[in-house]
Amino acid sequence: MILICDVFSQEGIRTLVEAGYEVVYNKDLSGESLVEEVKNLQPEVLVVRSTKVTQSVIDANSNLKVIIRAGAGTDTIDVAYASEKDICVANCPGKNATAVAELAMGLIINIDRRLAENYLLQKEGKWRKGMFAKCQGLKGRTLGLIGFGNISQKVAQRALAFEMKVITYDVVQKDTEGIEFASSIDEVLEVADIVSLHVPNLPTTKGMVNAEFLAKMKENAVLINTARGEIINEEDLALHLETNNNFWYGTDVLKGEPSSKECDWEHPLSLHPRVYGSHHIGASTKQAEAEIGEEVVRISRKYMETGEIDDV
Ligand code: MLT
Repeated sequence: MILICDVFSQEGIRTLVEAGYEVVYNKDLSGESLVEEVKNLQPEVLVVRSTKVTQSVIDANSNLKVIIRAGAGTDTIDVAYASEKDICVANCPGKNATAVAELAMGLIINIDRRLAENYLLQKEGKWRKGMFAKCQGLKGRTLGLIGFGNISQKVAQRALAFEMKVITYDVVQKDTEGIEFASSIDEVLEVADIVSLHVPNLPTTKGMVNAEFLAKMKENAVLINTARGEIINEEDLALHLETNNNFWYGTDVLKGEPSSKECDWEHPLSLHPRVYGSHHIGASTKQAEAEIGEEVVRISRKYMETGEIDDV
């Protein structure tokens, strides 16, 4: 049986059911309710997105064989514990890359043109054309990409279409037309007007955006994060915002963000006037949902038919 416990494409569910698999779909499971449901249903395959798969979830189900993350990162799953219990973990890298790249560009444009302030002032019946006359524009400015995986490459393509210069640093260099490869992160930070983060949440990247990193950025640079809140040292970032009046942060992710889809939750960073935030919606488009759905179906079918999955 396959338990899908996060928002999932109806088409994907239909395909699995038509293929003869028993599917239970409950998009609102997390924490205790997930442990309970997993205990009751004993699924063989568990499909999750924001929902955290902890040791308690894994221990609640002796029948569990595969956990599929309906997204790129596997940091919401206790992968080490799953491996200890011989449970395979699969993900869907690249399948939501376009959606996340589009959001990164959205945050860049929003900050550059102050669209949220425009929107709010109009709602208050205020016409403030003069207030926004000093926006920079993107043409000719330098976008620095930290990490050059699936999402970052899509951001680069879009930035080039906006006639921006693009420089990137990644441990793996990929020869890509129109993009400069730096030999270090410092080299990127020195020249970039906008820095966009595209690294996974790993022990080596946790807190990598700290006071030292921020101090190396240009004084009026913009930082964009559609990756993970955990890669930011949030205390250092809050201080940097206080001491640098021209610094802006656009983020789709925050450290400790809730795994439930709707709840009241306030984070000190998102209250700052120079922080543009969204609710970890990078992958939340119908297009991405459909592509992820197809990939989860492919992985589930492969496992059900052969007992194997592709390596993460
Ligand atoms: C991902 O890891 O691909 C995204 O963060 C998925 C999500 O929206 O949670």
